[in-house]
Amino acid sequence: MAEEATEGAYAPYSKFYVGAVVVASNGKEERIFTGANVENASYGLTVCAERVAVFKAVTEGYRMIKEVYIVAKDERGNVVEKVAPCGACRQVIYEFSDGAVIHTPSGSYTIEELLPAGFRLDEG
Ligand code: THU
Repeated sequence: MAEEATEGAYAPYSKFYVGAVVVASNGKEERIFTGANVENASYGLTVCAERVAVFKAVTEGYRMIKEVYIVAKDERGNVVEKVAPCGACRQVIYEFSDGAVIHTPSGSYTIEELLPAGFRLDEG
């Protein structure tokens, strides 16, 4: 599914097409949300695939992230082995998870492994 999600990417600048799948719970049931990176001519406004998928889940009421799957493809359509969520996406995932597992082509990690000592306002 994450590979299929790369097809939604708008990446005319980097030509790096990322797809993300988020498995999230609303406390009653789990649902799947997909996302892809959306770039902008003003480069810094680009939003990563992970954040698009997380924001879709959260705005639908699914605020407990269980798993995130990430796939990236290059200009030729080949799957890129080396992809991991950027720091901003790690912090965004952290906000909505407790032990979420992030699956990349090269391995799986908990969000706490990827973002030790992440920031939460409610932890004094
Ligand atoms: N990108 C993602 O969507 N997710 C990642 O995990 C890494 C980077 C995007 C941002 C930009 O559109 C392109 O990949 C190149 O950095």
